[in-house]
Amino acid sequence: MIPELKKILEEVALLQPPPDLESLNEIRLKYLGKKGSVTSLSRGMRGLPPEMKPEAGKLLGEARQRLENFIGASEKRIKQETVQREIESEFFDVTLPATQPSFGSRHPISIVMDEIVEIFISLGFQIEEGPEIENDHYNFESLNFPPEHPARDMQDTFQISGLPLLLRTHTSPVQIRSMEKYRPPLSVIAPGKVFRCDADVTHSPMFHQIEGFTVDEKVTFGELKGTLDLFIHRLYGPKTKTRFRPSYFPFTEPSAEMDVSCATCGGAGCRICKQTGWLEILGCGMIHPNVLRAVNVDPDKWNGFAFGLGIERIAMRRYGIGDIRLLFENDTRFLRQF
Ligand code: PHE
Repeated sequence: MIPELKKILEEVALLQPPPDLESLNEIRLKYLGKKGSVTSLSRGMRGLPPEMKPEAGKLLGEARQRLENFIGASEKRIKQETVQREIESEFFDVTLPATQPSFGSRHPISIVMDEIVEIFISLGFQIEEGPEIENDHYNFESLNFPPEHPARDMQDTFQISGLPLLLRTHTSPVQIRSMEKYRPPLSVIAPGKVFRCDADVTHSPMFHQIEGFTVDEKVTFGELKGTLDLFIHRLYGPKTKTRFRPSYFPFTEPSAEMDVSCATCGGAGCRICKQTGWLEILGCGMIHPNVLRAVNVDPDKWNGFAFGLGIERIAMRRYGIGDIRLLFENDTRFLRQF
């Protein structure tokens, strides 16, 4: 038994530090477990002749002590190493730049709309808004539309089924609503959504207009032209030319459409302006006396001009957008470009 114990002591002295708790446990079981060699040797102590007991006991104690020291130290080391590895694997560099959150961008319609409104505010116009759901009186009748006028046709107008209401087909009703609210002299700019039953690459059933009008004493067509010229020069640059063509609207007399020189070809003629060198941009005219009468403004004392323009058309030209539907599909790859 004594040689066996000595052999164990030698083995223990040569034990390699175990890499993990599992292999450490194997060592523990091999010597100190129920069937471990040290345990079975200590059981054999009883059968030893008395004169051998002291030496065997001493060697046994020493073997046990050394093993316990070895196991204790290994366990401590392995645990420390585990913690260290965890710390290292969880390390991150707090000085690295963070991933940028993606920001939204302004919609091209909002950009153009604000820009136009801003120009008219600088000219002393005030902003007014009207409801998108209107009735026949505000949308047509008070604006001097004859009862059989084609613009009242169901094909153009979204009627609200079962009710005497419709989605406004233009922002001109805001002329009436503003003049009911304030008395002249008055200059108003009225941006908003309008609705027409129409859809293709250049028409959307919902689009945006800006209405503008002035009512005062002795307003002239020259003032209308001057105001719109100034507006176009601010929007498109001072080299842009304008021209006025006679036109017809029930609520203005005389009426005109304004064209601007095509920015793409500089007036020489191209695909965008259909070889004419000009682009139609807005409708305008002197407010019809019947419109003033509808809001109890005396047309012998007061008169004015009005104009209405489509935002989509201006935005599409400004940014070279070929299909109006892109503006309303909310594809962020498109919207991010503005
Ligand atoms: N309301 C007209 C339209 O939608 C535009 C317009 C406004 C024309 C004011 C003249 C004066 O086409």
